[in-house]
Amino acid sequence: CKSTEDNPIKFNWKCCLVILKMLCVRAAPKLYGIVLDAGSSRTTVYLYQWPAEKENNTGVVTQTNMCQVKGPGISEMNKESWKNLMKCMGIITETVPLSQRNSTSIFLGATAGMRLLHQKNEAAANIILVALQEYLHSLPFDFQNASIISGQEEGLYGWITVNYLMGNFLEVRLRARTQGSLDLGGASTQIAFAAPDNTRGKDLVQVALYGYEYNIYTHSFLCYGKNEAEKKVLAELKSSNWSHINHPCYPAGYNITMKASDVFGSECTKSQAPAQNGPERNITFVGQSDPAMCKRLVRRIFDLNSCHGKENCSFEGVYQPPVTGDFMAYAGFYHTAKALNVSGSNSLEKFNATMRSVCSMDWKTVKVHLKSVCYSANYVHTLLVDGYKFNSDNWENLNFKKEVHIAWSLGYMLAQSNMIPAEAKLLKLPIPNIAFAALLFILSALIIITFMFLIITLVRFCY
Ligand SMILES: *[C@@H]1O[C@H](CO)[C@@H](O)[C@H](O)[C@H]1NC(C)=O
Ligand SMILES: *[C@@H]1O[C@H](CO)[C@@H](O)[C@H](O)[C@H]1NC(C)=O
Ligand SMILES: *[C@@H]1O[C@H](CO)[C@@H](O)[C@H](O)[C@H]1NC(C)=O
Ligand SMILES: *[C@@H]1O[C@H](CO)[C@@H](O)[C@H](O)[C@H]1NC(C)=O
Ligand SMILES: *[C@@H]1O[C@H](CO)[C@@H](O)[C@H](O)[C@H]1NC(C)=O
Ligand SMILES: *[C@@H]1O[C@H](CO)[C@@H](O)[C@H](O)[C@H]1NC(C)=O
Ligand SMILES: *[C@@H]1O[C@H](CO)[C@@H](O)[C@H](O)[C@H]1NC(C)=O
Ligand SMILES: *[C@@H]1O[C@H](CO)[C@@H](O)[C@H](O)[C@H]1NC(C)=O
Ligand SMILES: *[C@@H]1O[C@H](CO)[C@@H](O)[C@H](O)[C@H]1NC(C)=O
Repeated sequence: CKSTEDNPIKFNWKCCLVILKMLCVRAAPKLYGIVLDAGSSRTTVYLYQWPAEKENNTGVVTQTNMCQVKGPGISEMNKESWKNLMKCMGIITETVPLSQRNSTSIFLGATAGMRLLHQKNEAAANIILVALQEYLHSLPFDFQNASIISGQEEGLYGWITVNYLMGNFLEVRLRARTQGSLDLGGASTQIAFAAPDNTRGKDLVQVALYGYEYNIYTHSFLCYGKNEAEKKVLAELKSSNWSHINHPCYPAGYNITMKASDVFGSECTKSQAPAQNGPERNITFVGQSDPAMCKRLVRRIFDLNSCHGKENCSFEGVYQPPVTGDFMAYAGFYHTAKALNVSGSNSLEKFNATMRSVCSMDWKTVKVHLKSVCYSANYVHTLLVDGYKFNSDNWENLNFKKEVHIAWSLGYMLAQSNMIPAEAKLLKLPIPNIAFAALLFILSALIIITFMFLIITLVRFCY
């Protein structure tokens, strides 16, 4: 540690702290894991890190780096997006210390975009997966798997992530209250929450974590992600004049022309494609700013009739026990609430009122990137109220939260690498290495100071 030039005698504390920190980091080796979240509209690479000797503890895995791959999702991969993927993997590789690379697991999980492609063209989906497997295998990491994960897995991993990050598994002596997980992606949406123990049914899974068994209800609705649902809404609109279709959710003064294939080319809308029109045909949607009509239109894409007269049913005839407890609503849910200025926890009345006011605004008042905000507000409102059966009493249990680390990928990595043991762990007070070193440092400093003080007093006293 060199002393500073202007004051050669003064001890350089900053530099010493840096060295101390480096020694601590060296003393506590870190392990790493990589997950590629291959979503419908984009791929995100997450790098996680945890102290080696605490592998199975709760709350020790943190996200250290993240890279968003530019371009479309892997279901539409082209030369450009391959290049972007490689760029991201280069950045992530640089972050992992050389000596740790070959012990770093790497996984790729593809979600609804690839589920849809698999439905449409299984061979094409497999070709993409094999190419990705080969590429990831060629990297200097311990390649594990590249596959399409099921909607149920996606929901469950989201729930695990939320509760792991909230520290809800930390409580060892009592089974902690857990939070529900609401995820809204581009092509699918997931709900997952702990149902009462005696509830049994199709979408219930029992998971054992840190010594407790949880009864988790989880369901994923394919085609009910924000983007696919918007296509379903467009496909609902009928008109005799294709160059002028009124859209009540778009702002007045705004119109958009798109190819018929952009609306009807998806697996989610192809059954509604009009027989006599080619995919190249142009369709123009003309904004109306009509809140009441928009609400009715968005409601039409939900099949609520097949739940009619049934207890404990969301929509499309899907069984769902009544929602209980607090919920974390992230991804598309958060982005929608943010655009309405109602993120965090608010009342349903407030959501309603903001939604109505945004839906009445014309194109000049609504900001450019918010052209779809009225649609997405109505979509989120209908899904939560008419679908999942949230009401004005329990709406405040919803927390529309931006938590950069929330994604199913963390729960997926924890589960795939057996880092969440089923059995209980001994109750231990976790003292991180750095905190422990700091404590030791302060204690010894105190002792030295006291000692020196005694000597000085003694010397003063003697002379
Ligand atoms: C974590 O758990 C796995 C399986 O239960 C075990 O093999 C491994 O040794 C544990 N690691 C640590 C650091 O306790
Ligand atoms: C990982 O790499 C280190 C050197 O960087 C080497 O000593 C070790 O044997 C490798 N382990 C495996 C499993 O390949
Ligand atoms: C890869 O994942 C798929 C789907 O989750 C699973 O069926 C398969 O067994 C996994 N393969 C390996 C080698 O883990
Ligand atoms: C269709 O709408 C366009 C634009 O509003 C209009 O110019 C055209 O006359 C309409 N065609 C028919 C057949 O109504
Ligand atoms: C669409 O908007 C443009 C201006 O942005 C306008 O010139 C055109 O007439 C509009 N088309 C329809 C069908 O309203
Ligand atoms: C659709 O519109 C584009 C321009 O927006 C035009 O180039 C194309 O020819 C149109 N297609 C048809 C079938 O009218
Ligand atoms: C619906 O859920 C409630 C609360 O969990 C339960 O008491 C009731 O028996 C359920 N009804 C049916 C038909 O499953
Ligand atoms: C949200 O608040 C910001 C500033 O606080 C404002 O500019 C914006 O118009 C508001 N949006 C809505 C939809 O009320
Ligand atoms: C929200 O608005 C809808 C109509 O848009 C109405 O049916 C509902 O009762 C309202 N809910 C609350 C809590 O204000």
